[in-house]
Amino acid sequence: MMKALMTFFTMGGRTKKMAEVIASKLSNYEVTFFPFELKGSFIGKIKLLDKFENGDYSSLESDFSILDAEPYDLILIGMPTYGSEPPKTFYELTKRLNDLSGKRVVLFGTSRFRRGSHIQVMKEDIEVKGGVVIEQRNFRGLLILGSKKALEFGAMINAL
Ligand SMILES: Cc1cc2nc3c(=O)[nH]c(=O)nc-3n(C[C@H](O)[C@H](O)[C@H](O)COP(=O)(O)O)c2cc1C
Repeated sequence: MMKALMTFFTMGGRTKKMAEVIASKLSNYEVTFFPFELKGSFIGKIKLLDKFENGDYSSLESDFSILDAEPYDLILIGMPTYGSEPPKTFYELTKRLNDLSGKRVVLFGTSRFRRGSHIQVMKEDIEVKGGVVIEQRNFRGLLILGSKKALEFGAMINAL
């Protein structure tokens, strides 16, 4: 079975939801999850976001060695849009993935208004590091992000 890494950042749970829905369709893959998840109260999340933005990831319980790209056939990265950029965590993540040369990468984003321009920013960074972005998709919804489009996207990725 092929191996996939599903890694994402989430503050409000919307990107996490899309990640889980996409992963539910990856039946050809053994999927490892690595969430950068802000948990707790609203104030707690804001404080954590500040830490993340300043490069302090000490609150994460996960084993960072999971992030190394080497064992994976496919790497999926999901990020919300903050302005027209991903959160800074994206760059921490791509640094920790180490050698991306020739790796197949799928990018997805979430937003409320924008059409996913942050994904283009992500794509450029991945390509500079030698990764090959095989698919990208933004999921936009002002209030609720439905599952339907993410299910279709996951099924399409699984069949590639
Ligand atoms: C600091 C910040 C900036 C944001 N900027 C934008 C934006 O420019 N355009 C947009 O459509 N949504 C923007 N959003 C909304 C998020 O991108 C959107 O709600 C996303 O789905 C949140 O994902 P999450 O629930 O996984 O954290 C912003 C949210 C935050 C917290």
